Amino acid sequence: MNTQLNLLMVCLGNICRSPTAQAVMAARIADAGLQDSIRVESAGTAGYHIGKAPDPRSMAAALRRGYDMSAQRARQVSVEDFHKFDLILAMDSSNLNHLLQMAPATTADKVSLLLSHAPLSTTDVPDPYHGGDNGFEQVLDLIEQACDALLVTVQADLQGHRTTGDY
Ligand code: 4NP
Repeated sequence: MNTQLNLLMVCLGNICRSPTAQAVMAARIADAGLQDSIRVESAGTAGYHIGKAPDPRSMAAALRRGYDMSAQRARQVSVEDFHKFDLILAMDSSNLNHLLQMAPATTADKVSLLLSHAPLSTTDVPDPYHGGDNGFEQVLDLIEQACDALLVTVQADLQGHRTTGDY
């Protein structure tokens, strides 16, 4: 498959949830042998942590499940991202609203909640930044389920040869 699909995971700070989603989705893509066809990056709607490594609590929780986030560095979403990426996946409703306000005309339909791609009873990945360690486990539990479901969707899209700009 030569078609390239570009996914962008987005949260507020780009140091907890979206880097976790990037790492989990990259692992799912690699397990499926699709690393040449599907790329995944992450970004934050806020600029508080630009250039920083992920939160050590996120990195530790992810590493316990086999995901290495240590090479990631935070960046902020830009208007160009709406043209570069095919799917822009928000971690919560606040991130979604922020993205929809930024989205250039004709690109808003690329934006969705990550959890909307999975049959889950919740829509938002809760912000773990100010909470305890259990919050980081909950983030991983939700993101793993969502990425499993998202992989099925994007594989189907690739087989239907949807390319950049089709979303
Ligand atoms: P994230 O979590 O959006 O999942 O990266 C947060 C990280 C930092 C802050 C808020 C949420 N902060 O306020 O600095």
